Amino acid sequence: MRTRVPFSQKALRTQEQPISYLMQAAVQNRDLISLAAGLVDEPSLPVEVARDLVNEILAEPDSGQMALQYGTTHGYLTLRRQVLQHLCQMEGCSAEDLNLSVENVIISTGSQQMLFLVSDVLLDPGDIVIVSAPSYFVYTGTLASFGVSTRAAAVDAGGTRIDEVRRRLEELAAEGNLARCKLIYEMSYYQNPTGLTLAADRRRALVELAREFSTADHRILVLEDAAYRELCYDGGDLPSVKRYDPDNEFVVLCQTFSKPFSPGLKTGYTFLPDELVEPVLHQKGNHDFGSNNFAQHLISRAIETGAYARQVKRLRETYRRKRDVMLSALDDEFGDFPGGPVSCTRPGGGLYVWATFPPSVPTPRDGALFAACLGEGVLYVPGEYCYEAGVCPDMASRTMRLCFGVVPQDKIVEGVRRLARAARRCVTAAARA
Ligand SMILES: Cc1ncc(COP(=O)(O)O)c(C=O)c1O
Repeated sequence: MRTRVPFSQKALRTQEQPISYLMQAAVQNRDLISLAAGLVDEPSLPVEVARDLVNEILAEPDSGQMALQYGTTHGYLTLRRQVLQHLCQMEGCSAEDLNLSVENVIISTGSQQMLFLVSDVLLDPGDIVIVSAPSYFVYTGTLASFGVSTRAAAVDAGGTRIDEVRRRLEELAAEGNLARCKLIYEMSYYQNPTGLTLAADRRRALVELAREFSTADHRILVLEDAAYRELCYDGGDLPSVKRYDPDNEFVVLCQTFSKPFSPGLKTGYTFLPDELVEPVLHQKGNHDFGSNNFAQHLISRAIETGAYARQVKRLRETYRRKRDVMLSALDDEFGDFPGGPVSCTRPGGGLYVWATFPPSVPTPRDGALFAACLGEGVLYVPGEYCYEAGVCPDMASRTMRLCFGVVPQDKIVEGVRRLARAARRCVTAAARA
């Protein structure tokens, strides 16, 4: 008999991400149309741009050697300056207005690493994080691995409901648990999975709530995840939640180059309050003592040459078209759906549409629709993956995330057609039963 490996409590708490199954199924069966995978559009990835930038970097011994050497834990200084300037441009203000300097910027291995590290320096097992319902399942999985529980605030058309966040904080205070609540996680732009954006008036209100419920000894931070900010299709960027934190005290802002440039480069950047910088760097030192330096040099050149801005512009056009194709396919197929109304969000950006079905079409992984969809050759992310167990059971059982990122336009239309055929079969079967 083989001896037992004594895994850590953390390893035992960590489950495989449910989405892995969906990714694997799509890779194994090429006929399957995966509206589940949150990957980006492939033909518009900046292949030639990257090739030219790599050639430029390697053309000179100095720049080549710098990029191929180790970088620093903090990240490439030139890139940190550039992303700070980029943020200021988006916000229409100066770095002083945000009380930020390059010291507050850390470059990471995707924004996921920073979501992990910020959580790691703040949270102990038994702590509590306020998240939206539904929320981003990778991050809630990360929290579960820390032994941290969540309290959910419902969303509406204006994104996370601030009255719900307040209620959760009041409940925690009444229970005597406020000291265990250190973070409010907020995807402020085109959130994953709903595509909804936090309304303008809720942004300041969220910072004010964090301030109101903080005490001299216990700061509550907002972890703002703005992964999709630059993928906006209908114009009109909103100021970040961070913009309402002029003392750089209550908001950690995480952004990424994965969505607006290339996920393969897996490079993110975060703006942190002073007190968090060193503790996060210490943990990052243990992880990798610096993210991929070559990728940082490449991105820095892309920003410097204007290639980055051109790529973002191009992607906005590509995804706007794909979003419109998906929404009109959904209108065509589900306009007068026999089982009752099917409602879909109309995201102004990002990569996802969130669909809500009538109760006769249950969406869970082990339900009738998922099986029928496998039979038809189409995949979606069941809404249940985006809610903690027991939270909003009615919504969790009849919602789904559909991604228009990676699938070509003709296949988006065909995928939605297959989904509708499967859904109609469920309605017919439910009526017979
Ligand atoms: C909401 C959200 N945050 C963060 C990430 C992490 O992306 P990356 O680590 O590639 O920056 C993703 C990826 O899909 C996401 O959807």
